Amino acid sequence: STERTLILIKPDGVRRGLVGEILRRVEAKGYTLTSVELRTAADDLLAAHYAEHEGKPFYAPLVEFMGSGPALAAIAEGNRVIEGFRALAGATDPTAALPGTIRGDLGRDWGLKVQQNLVHGSDSVESAEREIGLWFPGR
Ligand code: CMP
Repeated sequence: STERTLILIKPDGVRRGLVGEILRRVEAKGYTLTSVELRTAADDLLAAHYAEHEGKPFYAPLVEFMGSGPALAAIAEGNRVIEGFRALAGATDPTAALPGTIRGDLGRDWGLKVQQNLVHGSDSVESAEREIGLWFPGR
């Protein structure tokens, strides 16, 4: 069925000039972008977005990295887009992500304490609606 998902191009993707390449893959797959915004996320937004990871060893560096520069937030719509975008993105760890995926083709393993893995995609209908509400209030 038709779903919506929140896609983030993280600061590493924006810094490396991969916005066009990543959005091209999303659109080529047939998904529709209905909202797109570039901005540096504030700490309170990131704390809410990553609430489930609070207390994990990578939480503080993750929030610091995610707020380190502009990220692109987008709402994508399409049939089974939540699963579909996660398949496009590939595994969380860019070294393990398969060729053909965004992280597998474009992601680099910097050997840092947080995965700088270019993109985020919501993992369920519930988290998609929650995350869209945080990044795009009212949409
Ligand atoms: P994301 O989909 O944005 O959700 C949580 C993020 O935390 C994840 O992508 C990675 O950037 C990061 N992450 C997840 N697991 C780990 C881990 N084991 N070590 C470091 N970073 C992680």
